[in-house]
Formats: sequence, C-alpha cells, structure tokens
Amino acid sequence: MSTHDQIPAHGGHLINRIATAAEGNEFREQAESLPRVQLDERAFSDLVMIAIGGFSPLIGFMEQGDYETVVTDMRLANGLPWAVPVTLSVTEDIAEPLKEGSWVRLDDPTGRFVGVLELTQKYRYNKTHEAVNVYRTDEDKHPGVKVVYDQGPINLAGPIWLLQRDPHPLFPQYQIDPAVSRAKFQEAGWKTVVGFQTRNPIHRAHEYIQKCALETVDGLFLHPLVGATKSDDIPADVRMRCYEIMMDRYFPQDRVILAINPSAMRYAGPREAIFHALIRKNYGCTHFIVGRDHAGVGDYYGTYDAQHIFDEFKPDELGIIPMKFEHAFYCTRTGQMATTKTSPSAPEERVHLSGTKVRALLRDGKLPPPEFSRPEVAQELIRAMQG
Ligand code: ADX
Repeated sequence: MSTHDQIPAHGGHLINRIATAAEGNEFREQAESLPRVQLDERAFSDLVMIAIGGFSPLIGFMEQGDYETVVTDMRLANGLPWAVPVTLSVTEDIAEPLKEGSWVRLDDPTGRFVGVLELTQKYRYNKTHEAVNVYRTDEDKHPGVKVVYDQGPINLAGPIWLLQRDPHPLFPQYQIDPAVSRAKFQEAGWKTVVGFQTRNPIHRAHEYIQKCALETVDGLFLHPLVGATKSDDIPADVRMRCYEIMMDRYFPQDRVILAINPSAMRYAGPREAIFHALIRKNYGCTHFIVGRDHAGVGDYYGTYDAQHIFDEFKPDELGIIPMKFEHAFYCTRTGQMATTKTSPSAPEERVHLSGTKVRALLRDGKLPPPEFSRPEVAQELIRAMQG
C-alpha cells in the first residue's frame, strides 16, 4: 500500500507544528524578551495535540471566526466539520498588555518554556452560549462546563509552534504520534483500522465491542486518553497497567496497537464523540467505536445521543466511519457477552455495573465479578485503590 492510499488527515494533510532544532534555538534566544503565558493542563495538551497533528487541520488556538461557527454549527469557518472549541482562555490582566501581531512565549503548567504563539487575535466570548451549544447544559455541575466557567474571559488566538517533542514522562513507550501510527498501520499492511477512545479501566464490555469491531477490520488501535480527567476518574497510570495486562494475555499482538491519546477530556458527550473520531482519523484510523453514552457524564446525554450526532454529517464530510454499539453486558442466559441487540435476556439476566458501583466494590477490597472484569485487571484495580 502506498502512502496516498491511506486515509487523509482531516482537512487534507497532517499538520506538523513541532519546531526544528534550529527554529527551537531561535525561539529560545528570543524567549527572555517575549511576554509569557502559562498554560493549564488542558491548554498544554491542546498545544501538543495541535503540534503533532492530532487536531489537524488546526495550526493554532482558534480565532473568533472558527470559534463562533464551531460553537453554533459544528464547523470551522471554512465549512469543515469540527465539534469542540480549542481555545486558549486567559484573564483580562494577562490579555491586556499582549499586542495582536506579536509573539507570546508559552510555558507549561510547571513553568517550563514549551512553545510560542503568534498572537493574531484577542477576543471575548460568551461562556453560557458555549456551554449550552457544546455541552447541552449551562449547569456548572457539569465538569466540562465548570472548566469553561472557571477559565478567563478572553481567548488568545493564532498559530503555535511546539519547541520540541518530549517523551511522555509516564508512558514514553506508548507515545505514538499520528505520523508514527500511520507508518505503523502501513507497515502492518492494515487497510482498515478501528480506533477506540477510553478514559476508564478496561472491562469486558469494552473488550467485547473492541473485538466485535476487530472482527470486521484489519487492526485495532487502542487509544486511552491520558490528558486531564475529572478527579474521580481512575488515574491514567492505573488504566494503562490494566491495558498492559490485557495486551499480554487477551489481545493478539499482531492485530492490536496500544498508544496514548495525550488530550484532555471535555465530557461533551455527542460533540466530543465527533471530536474523538476526527482525532483518530488524524492518527490514521478508518473506523471509530462509539458505544453507549460516549464521553458522557451524569445524566446529561441520552444513551445513544453520541451515535445519533453522526447523522448530522454526510459520511464523506467526516471521512471516518463510526462503528456504533449498543449497551454491552454479560448475559447469564446465553453465557456470553452480548448487547441488547443480540441477546434475548431479561434485565435481571444482564451483568453490568456502573463506574460508581465498581469504585465502591474496589474501595471495600472486593473484586468485581469475572463477568464484568478480567480477574487480573480487577486485582490491579484493587491494588491501586488500596495503594
Ligand atoms: S469515554 O468517556 O471515553 O467514552 P469509557 O472509557 O467508559 O468512557 O468508554 C469508552 C468507549 O466504550 C465509548 O465509546 C463508550 O461508549 C463505550 N462503552 C463503555 N461501556 C460500554 C458498554 N457497557 N456497552 C457499550 N459501549 C460501552
């Protein structure tokens, strides 16, 4: 398969905004004279995602034109689908001295110089309007909305450069950026690859839908999100250890690639499902799994809203095929994993546990049942909870 047979990145080509060594040195020489903006965890991961092409076609933080059409119409100003704003929001004090047309030095949350922004625009935006359109609620109890309400009222926009691509501090071996995942898919001869987004420890319903999907395509790209999540989600290092166990014992090594997705969770449910799909397209996936309440939180979204939203686009506009799965569980009548689509079971014959219930079991040192979780994974979770 030649390169041009591969699925193109969103917008046509994969963006690379990582400075060369020479450019990086030039930026470092200028750094002391530049005004400085410190990024929070989400903005830092967004900077990285833009730079490595995970957010292609974005080359920077969104200008007002893109921001407005994304919020209201799920499209960039040029009409290309895009579902979630990617913005750098700061306080008035920080924004005030910055001049449009100048360069800004970007520091990571620890204060390290990591990138530069060519500031093309500063603009105010309406937080409630963003919340209602993107998150479908204006409640500050929603963790994604709370982030919007807590951030500054002014967006800084413009193209960025990342100074250099550092190995991930916790998962360097799983840092497989879009250019590399694309090369790996090609090397493996995979013409079709399904991507899987997750922010939770792997359970058997996940494994079931992953394997059902893999039955019909060439490869599976397991792509757990390791950027910022809400405080009661299981930490990324624990989730990655669970995936390592699964890779060792339960997945065919030649058909599955495990890699980290560095971006932050928004919990925007349906909108985020589109966003997640486009990110995986940029990594080279042709298909993307969307199960029950994808990227949801609380009761904000209907169980299948994140699937229905794909119908709002023409298939060739998104350029990646959603693989939709109904609610999966272990069916005690048939003795196998199933969904409401494939099982004749009554509700009492279905083993499925909520995240809250699982966390309660683990806190009490009790293993979730093997119908819910592979025992080795359950052991790992208990170890982590008690440690
Ligand atoms: S998410 O926020 O990243 O979507 P999670 O890690 O729980 O959360 O889900 C990963 C993917 O698996 C999503 O596509 C989700 O819809 C799907 N999923 C999770 N649990 C189930 C289930 N029991 N049945 C079907 N799909 C599921």
